[in-house]
Amino acid sequence: MTRVAILISGGGSNMLALVRDMLSGDHPARPVLVAANDPAATGLARAAQMGVPVAAVDHRAYGRDRAAFEAALIQPILAAKPDILCLAGFMRVLTPDFVRQFEGRMLNIHPSLLPKYPGLHTHQRALDAGDAEAGCSVHEVTAELDAGPLLGQARVPVLPCDTADTLAARVLVQEHRLYPAVLRRYAVGDRRMVNLPPAPTGVSG
Ligand code: GAR
Repeated sequence: MTRVAILISGGGSNMLALVRDMLSGDHPARPVLVAANDPAATGLARAAQMGVPVAAVDHRAYGRDRAAFEAALIQPILAAKPDILCLAGFMRVLTPDFVRQFEGRMLNIHPSLLPKYPGLHTHQRALDAGDAEAGCSVHEVTAELDAGPLLGQARVPVLPCDTADTLAARVLVQEHRLYPAVLRRYAVGDRRMVNLPPAPTGVSG
């Protein structure tokens, strides 16, 4: 069975979508670790409640020493022996050295239709550009930020009344559909692009 570790920074709603799907039975993978860079990340307690081992490595303890933080972070990850590492709302940029160790088996979900809007503030940037649609992408992680090969996308229309918050909420609903759909395939070595059918409009919960 394919072993999956998940890195989070906060609430971990994408992590929960992945864990729920893996624990639903009939899945080629199982969660072996949820780790966070913030001990207060509420997703840790939610993962523990679902019986998934958790770990926290506080990045603030390492100041600007990214390599030292990653050397600590990688310990619980290696101990869990994951086949796949999923970034799910993990808000630290990883160094090329770290990425290299999981090359070809690390995924990320990003709240834009990449290659548009890598980095932060994706929804505001889509609104500022007057885009008619927005969405999310799952991609393989490479050393360049938010630029690895695409594995799946889901789209939502941008509505005239949208703010960055309403758009983010509507995209997040699609993230929870897309990431599990991609992981199910990726866990059995299927890297074909997943294009989810367009979402119904006006859904925010
Ligand atoms: C999600 O929207 C995810 O796409 C985004 O952070 C949110 C985390 O929510 N990730 C990034 O912006 C990565 N650059 P979650 O903790 O509830 O899954």
